[in-house]
Amino acid sequence: MAGAMVPEMTAQEFTIHQYAVVRRTASLGRGVIVYPFSQVGEAVLLGERVVIGSNCYIGDASMIGAGTRIQHGCFLPKRSRIGERVFIGPLTVFTDDKRPYAGNRNYNAQPPTVEDDVSIGAGCVILPGITIGKHAMIGAGAVVVRDVPAGATYYGNPAKDNGGKR
Ligand SMILES: CC(C)(COP(=O)(O)OP(=O)(O)OC[C@H]1O[C@@H](n2cnc3c(N)ncnc32)[C@H](O)[C@@H]1OP(=O)(O)O)[C@@H](O)C(=O)NCCC(=O)NCCS
Repeated sequence: MAGAMVPEMTAQEFTIHQYAVVRRTASLGRGVIVYPFSQVGEAVLLGERVVIGSNCYIGDASMIGAGTRIQHGCFLPKRSRIGERVFIGPLTVFTDDKRPYAGNRNYNAQPPTVEDDVSIGAGCVILPGITIGKHAMIGAGAVVVRDVPAGATYYGNPAKDNGGKR
């Protein structure tokens, strides 16, 4: 499995822990850190200073903007689009298959879009194809079932606009 494991590397450019798996086709900006037991897929783009916490999965061809921090244990499906300076709290899961079943390799994947400066609390579940608008805040434990407008604060299950401020 060529390219599956990259030895710990602390170059001027980026740091990959020796127990992280970063595919060689991934592109990492200056100052990126990937913590142990995380997996960064094929053709992923990580902008400058992106931090991937431990035990995260970043699906193939995902794009993550500069300054974004993804905390421990998050799952991002392939082709996720995450903006700049986004905070994703620990154990947050993005989904991309509305009606999953085992062995279906031809599903119509609906990856997420998260715009710049969004914050997502711990332990959220984001349903397929959702867009979260700029500067929105998602409360801890939310299940996000529809698009979130820019600047809104959503929480609960199903997550709703609670009129709060960031
Ligand atoms: C969503 C959030 C920003 C709201 O903060 P806030 O506007 O100060 O809200 P308050 O604490 O005043 O709570 C307002 C009401 O919403 C409820 N509430 C707050 N957050 C909630 C959440 N995540 N889920 C469900 N209800 C929530 C409160 O119980 C309260 O209800 P009440 O009026 O019936 O008593 C905040 O609660 C939150 O979830 N932050 C994310 C924390 C996190 O996960 N950080 C990750 C880094 S570790």
